[in-house]
Amino acid sequence: MPPPLAPTLRDQLLDPSGGLIYHLRAARHRRRWAGFHACVADWLDGWQPTRRHLLIVGPNAGYALPAGFLARFETVTALEPDPLARWLLSRRPDAVALHFDRLDALATPDGLARLAARFPDTAVLFSNVLGQCSAPCADWATLLARHLADHAWASYHDVISTTTPPARTAACAPTTAEPLDATLARFWAGGELTVVDHGTFHLDGNRPHAYALWPIAPRRWHLVEWCAHTAGAAQA
Ligand SMILES: C[S@@+](CC[C@H](N)C(=O)[O-])C[C@H]1O[C@@H](n2cnc3c(N)ncnc32)[C@H](O)[C@@H]1O
Repeated sequence: MPPPLAPTLRDQLLDPSGGLIYHLRAARHRRRWAGFHACVADWLDGWQPTRRHLLIVGPNAGYALPAGFLARFETVTALEPDPLARWLLSRRPDAVALHFDRLDALATPDGLARLAARFPDTAVLFSNVLGQCSAPCADWATLLARHLADHAWASYHDVISTTTPPARTAACAPTTAEPLDATLARFWAGGELTVVDHGTFHLDGNRPHAYALWPIAPRRWHLVEWCAHTAGAAQA
């Protein structure tokens, strides 16, 4: 029997994690998102994988990517189901070596294994996508440890979202891994905090990660985590 076909990204203009609504939000909240985008720029600046080929998963139009980022790599491949986002991304001045691939690496339990096999010598950036798509089995931390341990990969992703205003907004990078409650207490004062858990806390295992707030809308905040995995580093 032939092996099952790789799952393919289908064009999505109404996806809840992207699509037309996301473009309208990005335009409407450009100023509100600027501080968060500056944090993402700092994180990406500190991420210097030795690979010359970048695979970026879920870039949308690159709203969060600093100018010039794509030009740091000899080749950039993007996995993005939103056709308008692909068109806008390809018009960026730094998108000189940008290509698109149709692998859907997030839909099936073997998706990350297929990604690892198709892009063996590639640094991978998950661009605020893993907290928005449910893991097809287990959880994303388990799947990444299982299939991408030998890749250089990095991710920024939603950890929780809430409508409770934070007491403090400064980004932070705890030097030791701490429980979720302790990380939340860095942003929210004590008391009842109702959150949606996106199931991605400590994505790269039990090592320190960095955090920033994304004020996605006037009364909604996402706590976003950043981690950069070194190829071959076992999960702590
Ligand atoms: C929240 S947006 C993040 C956009 C952008 N990276 C940013 O930081 O502003 C999530 C993106 O993931 C894309 N996406 C959804 N499912 C995906 C999949 N299976 N593979 C790749 N990208 C996907 C959506 O189309 C959307 O552009």
